[in-house]
This record gives sequence, C-alpha cells and structure tokens, in this order.
Amino acid sequence: MTLAERDRLYIWHPFTRQKDMPAPIPIVRGKNTLLFDEAGNSYIDAISSWWVTLHGHGNDYIAKKLYQQALQLEQVIFAGFTHEPAVSLAERLLPLLPGSFNRIFFSDNGSTATEVAMKMAVQYWWNQGQSQRKKILAFQNAYHGDTFGAMSVSDRSVFTLAFHDLLFEVVFLETPTPGNITGLLAKINEHAPETAAFIYEPLVQGAGGMNMYDAVLLDQLIQCAQQHDILCIADEVMTGFGRTGKLFASSYMQAKPDLICLSKGLTGGTMALGVTACTHKVYEAYLQEDALKTFFHGHSFTANPLACTAANASLDLLLTDTCMGSIQRISGRIQAFAFMLQQESLPVKDIRTLGTILAFEIDHGKKEYLNQISTTITQKALTGGVYIRPLGNTVYLMPPYCISDEELDTVFNTMLVILRNLFTTAS
Ligand SMILES: Cc1ncc(COP(=O)(O)O)c(C=O)c1O
Repeated sequence: MTLAERDRLYIWHPFTRQKDMPAPIPIVRGKNTLLFDEAGNSYIDAISSWWVTLHGHGNDYIAKKLYQQALQLEQVIFAGFTHEPAVSLAERLLPLLPGSFNRIFFSDNGSTATEVAMKMAVQYWWNQGQSQRKKILAFQNAYHGDTFGAMSVSDRSVFTLAFHDLLFEVVFLETPTPGNITGLLAKINEHAPETAAFIYEPLVQGAGGMNMYDAVLLDQLIQCAQQHDILCIADEVMTGFGRTGKLFASSYMQAKPDLICLSKGLTGGTMALGVTACTHKVYEAYLQEDALKTFFHGHSFTANPLACTAANASLDLLLTDTCMGSIQRISGRIQAFAFMLQQESLPVKDIRTLGTILAFEIDHGKKEYLNQISTTITQKALTGGVYIRPLGNTVYLMPPYCISDEELDTVFNTMLVILRNLFTTAS
C-alpha cells in the first residue's frame, strides 16, 4: 500500500472534508523553501506551511540546536521547575515586544495563546472584585483559533456553525473604516463598564480572508478602549515575527497592547509553542495572598525545552541583518508584483499587501471559505511547482524569509499563468 492509501485508512486531516478527500501528497523532505514529495517533485512553499515557517524547512542551525537540547533535557514539568531555554527566551523576547511587557506565559499553539490571554484578562477583573467586567470585544471576520474560547471571539462562520449555541456572547465590531469609526468608538464607550478585554488581529485578519485595515483607525480604537481600562489583546499569532514588514504589527500603532499572543513563527515554524505576554499591570492583579486568585492554567508541555530552544534559535536567525534585509527585499518584490497585477486585466480584485503578505480575491462567486476555486488554484499551482492554499477565493502569498528572488519569480510567474488562463481552461 502507498503512504497515501495507508493515510486514508487511519487519519483524519484538519480543515478537510473527509468524504471524497483527494489523496494527500506524501511529503518526504523539506529544505529551505522547498517541499519534496515521494515522487521526487518539489514545491516552493509560498505560504510557509500555514504561516509558520520563517527560515525555511530543514534549517541546519535550528536542527543542531534542537539535537543538542534533546540530549540535554527534552521535557520537564514547568510547575516548580524551570530551565535555561525558557528563561533565555523570556529575557530576549520581552524587550522586543511592542509595549512594556513584563511576563511571559507559555502554552502550546495559537489557540491556547489566545485562550490564556482571554482568561488572564477576565480573571484580572475577577481578582479585583469586579466580576461584572467579563464581556469581550472582538472584530467581525476575526479568527483566533479552534478551541471554545477562541471560537467564541472568532467570527460566526462555517468554522463555528455547529457550536453557535455553546459559544459565549461577544460584542462584535466591524473592522474600522473612516465611515464607521465614530460608531465603533460609541459602541466601545457603551459596553465599557462590563467589558474586560478587546481582542484583535492587528492590521491583517488571517483566516477570515487576509483582510487588511488601517493602523491609524485601529490606534483610535485601542486608545478609546484603554481610556476605559479595557485590556487590549493583540493576537499576533500570524502577524508576529516580521510578516507585516515590522517585527510585530502592533509597532505600526502608537497605543500598545496590554497582552500579546504569539505562536506560528515563534519557533521559526519548527516546534509547537505559544506565548502570551502581559504587562506588569495585568500580572500585579495576580500577586495576592489569596490562593483563589492564582491563574489556574497550564499544559503538560508548557515551556517545552525543545520548543523554547527552537524559538531561541529562530530569534538568533531572525535578528540578523541578513534576515531583516530579506524581509524588506520580499516586501519590495511583493509590492512590485501587486502593482503589476493591477496593470493587467485579470479576474482579480482588491489586491492588497502589507510587508511580506500579498492577498487578492478571484473575481468569481462570493468571498467565502467554501468557494471551490481554491482547489482549482492549488492544483494548478502545484503543477507549476508552487504550493499555495487559497482561503476560498482569497489567494495569498506569505513566503519563508529564505525565498530567493528566482524562487519569487517562479511563484509570481506561476500565479500570472494561472490567472491569465483561469476561466479559459477551468470550466
Ligand atoms: C491570528 C490567529 N490566532 C490564532 C490562531 C490559532 O493558532 P493555532 O492554529 O496554532 O491554534 C491562528 C491560526 O491560524 C491565527 O491566525
């Protein structure tokens, strides 16, 4: 039996309709931007394997650090014990974060990082005897993960449909535009007395369709929320570590968050790790004699030494001039390609970029996740040696920072060929 046939017998894949699921492609190796399949084909990973891979696959530097750490200490309970990789990571990460962050709480992934942030924010008020402040503000079209709290603050969408009755109530705001900003500020003012926190994906809403919105207007919303002591939670699980052109998207705003959630690129995309960082103000609410005011949250693999080592190694690489230069180079190339797309008469609309991210919609049917055009585009791109996975009819690029100019040319040309021929050959 082939690997794909054995897979089909026992495995249930994420975000994938199981009935009539096309055979998954067995990937046997990854090196830099390339993924190699069983048959010897290679694909440029133009979406960083669900937005995680920063320095490419099979990175020698990170792999060696991981190997050394695996021989030294692979895992240890993190209640009552500590270790160098976790402490070093916290010491290094805190000063880099956009704001005055002072504590790091470790978890396993992006969903747990946002769960932790929301629980921290709600209990912050509860610990101070203000349990009426428990509402959460979130944006329409948001995506903060797949666990119940994260789903609650995410858009009510096909992802959450089966669970709507079980999700907690959230005050949803539209993302800000010059036309709705006054109304949004009024809504924050109205709900402030019962509101614990405001959670947002700064500047780019990822899984909701790579929607981009204005930094100045988001700044106004954060400032308004903070005037009412609403804790602001920046979910930078996707936008963190250079994706938007700056180290963190929150650096584009004057007002800084009280909590920040990180994952994906945190380990360079090599290991599962989540981080929730908070300011001293938040932490202080937990510095109490009363044992009931403890933050009772943790995971078996909290601060796993291997994951923290990978994160430290990824930071070593990310903070080099070479990597920072690559982020600027890719951003420039992406912008130039977006300009070129605009000049041609193609079936696309709403072409947008921020840093290393490019997105647009295929002008075909509704903008929705279930739009089947995504399957057609993925297949055609694979044939051209490029891996992309549109969100419905939203096509986007988010390459690893090690991508070369030649590889970017291949990605751009492959996309152009697909777009030029989409409706002449698709149907
Ligand atoms: C902004 C944001 N938050 C949270 C998550 C959830 O992360 P994970 O898939 O690691 O649970 C994602 C995942 O795409 C995300 O984009």
